[in-house]
Amino acid sequence: LIDTYTLNNDVKIPIVGFGTWQSADGDIAYQSVQTAIDAGYRHIDTATAYGNEVSVGKAINDSDVDRHDIFLTTKLWNDDHGYEATTKALDNSLKSLDTDYVDLYLIHWPNPVEFRDNWEQINAESWQAMEEAYKAGKVRAIGVSNFRPHHLASLMKTATITPAVNQNYLNPSDMQPEVIHANEQYNILNEAYSPLGTGELLSVPLLHELGEKYGHSAAQLTLRWSLQHGFLPLPKSTHADRIQQNTDIFDFTISDSDMKAIDGLHGTTRVADDPDLVNF
Ligand code: A2P
Repeated sequence: LIDTYTLNNDVKIPIVGFGTWQSADGDIAYQSVQTAIDAGYRHIDTATAYGNEVSVGKAINDSDVDRHDIFLTTKLWNDDHGYEATTKALDNSLKSLDTDYVDLYLIHWPNPVEFRDNWEQINAESWQAMEEAYKAGKVRAIGVSNFRPHHLASLMKTATITPAVNQNYLNPSDMQPEVIHANEQYNILNEAYSPLGTGELLSVPLLHELGEKYGHSAAQLTLRWSLQHGFLPLPKSTHADRIQQNTDIFDFTISDSDMKAIDGLHGTTRVADDPDLVNF
């Protein structure tokens, strides 16, 4: 968990992160982040939209681990796109998280319904604000989420800093080949949200069979698959035993033929939302 990938700006990022989507504000988010830190996670992924920044920040600050030893990500919500709004939103996030900086700040969605007519311009403006925040030391890296190749290409027309990360719905049921290919061109790290398909993949028989073969659960097998593809999985759980279990994925290696068998699940269950069509 403390093994790292190196981002394209040389910042190190722990190779598994703890996802907090759907962990509502209050005790549950606080406790699950605390449990995750105790279990050895040093990378916590939140977003303004999750409504839990206050609890996440408090759990980090109350822990025995130094803030500088934790990699913390949050994300710009759809209402806050544009130059001035982005600067304000980041400052608000820092306040909510009760920290001086975040390690990674992402544009959460490329094409919010509110800006559908001028998303290219708006993303360029948001990105400019993010570049300035990066230069001012408020964030150690900047990136995007749910960006398809055409969103990236558009951003790169005016960007002076290449995104470090592109975070997507990424798991055996949607391997996002076009996104992965585009990210490779720019040396952008693939972060995987819903690495377990929001839990849906855990009822797929193949993943249980292979899990058993390697002496691990279907969840552990699926997270291992993500790592072996070079992705950075962000599993979410609110249960201590699962939070712990999801860290225990370093003592086995999936064979090439079994990796291919898992790849074969592509398209069989839920796939990613189309970012140009989402209704938020
Ligand atoms: P819970 O939070 O109740 O533990 P994803 O990370 O793809 O979004 O998936 C999260 C879902 O998978 C949640 O419903 C979570 O449930 C469940 N989950 C996470 N880890 C495990 C695990 N090791 N075993 C079974 N279910 C898990």
